[in-house]
Order: sequence, then structure tokens, then C-alpha cells
Amino acid sequence: MKKIKLAVLATLVLPVMAFTVYNSNCVNLPGTSYVYKNIPFPVTVVGNLGAMDNMPTTDSTTDPGATLGRVLFYDVSLSANKTISCGSCHQQKFSFSDTARFSTGYNGTKGTRNAMALMHARFFKDASFFWDERAATLEAQVLMPIQNPIEMGLTLDTLVARVAAKSIYPPLFNAAFGTTTITSDEISRALAQFVRSMNTFGSRWWQGVNSTPGPAAYTTFATFTAQENFGKSLFMDTARGNCQSCHTKNVFVSGAARSNGLDSIYTDLGVGGADGQRNKIGTFKVPSLMNIALTAPYMHDGRYQTLAQVVNFYSDSIHNTANLSPFLKTAAGLARRPHYSDSEKHALLAFLNTLTDTLITTDPRWSNPFCVLSAGREAGTANATNELIPVLSYAIYPNPSRTNDAINFRVIAGQNFEGNIRVYSVSGKLVYQTIHGFEIGNNLVGLPVTNLDPGIYILQLEKDGGILATGRIVKQ
Ligand code: HEC
Ligand code: HEC
Repeated sequence: MKKIKLAVLATLVLPVMAFTVYNSNCVNLPGTSYVYKNIPFPVTVVGNLGAMDNMPTTDSTTDPGATLGRVLFYDVSLSANKTISCGSCHQQKFSFSDTARFSTGYNGTKGTRNAMALMHARFFKDASFFWDERAATLEAQVLMPIQNPIEMGLTLDTLVARVAAKSIYPPLFNAAFGTTTITSDEISRALAQFVRSMNTFGSRWWQGVNSTPGPAAYTTFATFTAQENFGKSLFMDTARGNCQSCHTKNVFVSGAARSNGLDSIYTDLGVGGADGQRNKIGTFKVPSLMNIALTAPYMHDGRYQTLAQVVNFYSDSIHNTANLSPFLKTAAGLARRPHYSDSEKHALLAFLNTLTDTLITTDPRWSNPFCVLSAGREAGTANATNELIPVLSYAIYPNPSRTNDAINFRVIAGQNFEGNIRVYSVSGKLVYQTIHGFEIGNNLVGLPVTNLDPGIYILQLEKDGGILATGRIVKQ
């Protein structure tokens, strides 16, 4: 009796996980291509473009090039076990960043840096990408996560073979580059074109800039509240905020890496760790602040969960490291600690919130183009046999099970297929995986997950990056 009650409790208390299954061999693209090349820029951006733009003169963005890049960006075939794409860590709804402090790679392992938001990547002149600026161009950068052993884990040869094997690609390469011979160079150019196209200008900040004559930094915006205008003046005020000395040019980017004094001793050496220069230790790329309210957590290691924590840091906690930027020092050369009042802090936060632009987060131009097989909801637990779209139902038993029990996973499939069976802890750690071929009819697999600690685990049956079944295992 007691055990049954526990199982019922687990079913009631745990939230339902939503999931979408994509068909990775089918894309929905518009009949007439979306526009990526001629995205209208505000006048003040056009005026600054020369100083900011990293678009190569020899290889500018085209609509078919960025369209190909969009498909590649969301294709899970670009990861070793076909489970994640660029879009898994750079999610559109968060301005192409990740809500996790450290993103999970294809095999369940995490890195040590926070995934960067990609909006306005085009506007980093002296084009240097990553927190430590180790990638000299966007074209070089986009191939690095694919080859990174904990992110996507492919070699360039496998990448090319994978892409070449899929029937969706030859027409897209032909439209983009006039050839159906696929190379890693073209893959990198297309991905870079897509990333470089991520620019929209619909935030309240841009409404203010566009509707107010005069220099944006020093003019009161009629479209802002008094608090937002106060926050803006603090941000721009060299004596008080001085934020604009690094987060510049109306899109809040910088031409050079800086130290903002996060730590007195840096464990991650930043640019100095990548290029070996002592005067770069503890300096990091200055990220754009556009859409900053959507891209938590913050800083290279995602240490701050909220913007309020970031503002508190700039108010009270800057450290005087050897390479601290002069922009954050007092006249006496000490770390600046302006100790903002509560109303100053609230005003800075109100201003940072005016930088939110939800056009980029909802526009289909930058969305996942793969065909949706099914959008389902997670099945229940405890011996349940569940209807699953498109072809499957399954049962997991015994469930709940005791620590030393093996667990059976029975699938009723409408077709033969091969799938990855993966078991994760509730915190997302991969604890077991196997590949199994399923045949039509009943198909029973024993999972040797006998040594798991008591707790709740998630079982997923995955194929081509889609999740065909998700269930819970309760170990008592
Ligand atoms: C497993 C998660 C993960 C995946 C998958 C991933 N990224 Fe990233 N991305 C990151 C992290 C983390 C960083 C920061 C890493 C660092 O600075 O060392 C980053 C940084 C970047 C940057 C640098 C942005 C800047 O302003 O400097 C770009 C561009 C980028 N990724 C594009 C891509 C593309 C394109 C893909 C797919 C080919 C991809 N990423 C796949 C996690 C991921
Ligand atoms: C000396 C240059 C400099 C100044 C001045 C500066 N910042 Fe930054 N800012 C940086 C750097 C560099 C980073 C990234 C640091 C890291 O991750 O190690 C950063 C990160 C941030 C982030 C987090 C971005 C993200 O995507 O994680 C926010 C928010 C921010 N700054 C806001 C401000 C505000 C508000 C001010 C003014 C009070 C300000 N900054 C002043 C250089 C500066």
C-alpha cells in the first residue's frame, strides 16, 4: 500500500514536460525567401556601421545563404548523436542564449562558460568571438562548436558527410552558392550569414532614439517614463554610471575586450588565457546589452541570475585587478564603487528593460524550420501504456522499482526503427544510454539500470533528434 501511495504522489506532484518532435529530413521554407540581406537599419546604426560591421566585403549575406544557414543552425544532424543543434543552446526566445548557467552538450556534459546571446553579432568589429575572443571571424567561430568535444562532437569530415547525405540540402546549397558539392567552408559561410542577419530594432530604446532629435545619450525621450530617462542618464553619466564607455554605439557593443573587475583573482583568464598576454588576463568580450532582460544568467560564467545582481555588482563590488579598465576606476586609480541609491538602481534596471526587442524572439525568419512531427505532452508513470504520436506506445516496468531491479521497456511500434534510449537524472545528467533496434510489434528491452540511487529519472527514446517517448522511472 505504502509504495502505491508514493507512486501516485510522484505522478501528481511532478510537472508535465512539453516537448516537440521534429522530422530532421523535412523543412518548411517559405515559397518566396525571407529577407535577410536588406534588413532596414536605423539611421544612427547606418552612420556607425563602418566602425562596427564585420560583414566580409567578399562574402556578404544573401537571402538563400542565410536560409541555408537557418536550416543548418537548427539541424540536430550537426551533433555526434543527432540530439542537439546550435538552436538548443542559442534559443530564439531568449535572444539566442540559454537559460542554463552552463549549457549541456550532446552527451550530457557541461562546459564552463555561459552561452552567449547572438543578436547583433554583426556589430563586433575587429570581429572577435567567444568570451575570450579566440575566434577571429564569425566564419571561423561557427565551425568551432561543431568540433568541440563536449558541445557537438563532430569532425569536419563527418559534418560534411552528414550534411551531404541529407536530401534537403543540395537545392539549398545550389541556391546559396551555385553548387551542390558540399564543403565545410560553405557550411561555415552559411551559418555565419544566418547569425550575422540577427538584427531587429523594435525595442522601446529604438522608438526613443528614432523619435527624438539630438544625440540619443543626452536627450530626454518623450516615449520614456521619468524613471527610464533617469536610468538612461545614469547609464551615460561618466561620473556615475559610465556604462556607455564600454557598452556603446546605440547597440551597446564595444570594439575591445575589457576587465570589469568581477574577481580579484581570475580562475578563467579570459582573453589573456587564450592569447597568453599578461595585460589581457581577466579581460572578456563586452557583450551587447540589447535584449539583456531576456538573456539571464549573466557574465561569462553565468554567475548572476538577475539584472538586479548585476547592478549591485557595478554599485558595490568591482575589484581592483591589475587589468581593471580605467573606465571603472576613480581618479585615484582605485576600483570605482559608486554605491547607487535604491532609486538609482531601480532607474538603471528600468532603463535596461527598455532594451528588450521581442521582434527577434518571435520572427519566423530566425525560427526552427524543421517540420513538426508532433507536439505532445509527457506520458505518465507507473506501468502506464501511453498513446504516443506518431507511431508508438510504450510501458516501463516495474515502476516504481527497487534499487537492484532491472527495468523493462516495452515499445509498441508501427514501423521498424533504431532509437537511442537515454536515462537522465532530474537535473539533466545522462546516467545511461544505449542504441536499440525496434521491430514491428511488441519489443521488449531490459535496461540494466540496477545501480541507480533512489530518486526520479527521465527515460527518453530519441531518434534523429526527435523525442519519441518520454517517461519517468521512480527508483525506491
Ligand atoms: C552546447 C551548447 C552550445 C552549442 C550546441 C552551440 N553553442 Fe554557441 N556558444 C555556446 C557557449 C557556451 C558560448 C561561449 C563559449 C566561450 O566563450 O568559450 C558560445 C558562443 C557562441 C558565439 C560567440 C558569440 C559572440 O558574441 O562572441 C557564436 C557566434 C555561437 N556560439 C554560435 C553557435 C553556432 C552557429 C552553433 C552551431 C554550429 C553553436 N553556437 C552551438 C554554447 C553552444
Ligand atoms: C570597462 C568596461 C565596462 C563598463 C564601464 C561596464 N561594463 Fe558591463 N560588461 C563589461 C564586460 C567586459 C562584461 C563581461 C564580463 C564577464 O563576463 O567577465 C560586461 C557585462 C555586463 C552585463 C552582462 C552581460 C551578459 O550578457 O552576461 C551587463 C548586464 C552589464 N555589463 C551592464 C553594465 C552596466 C549597467 C554598466 C554601468 C553601471 C556597465 N555594464 C559598465 C564591460 C563593462
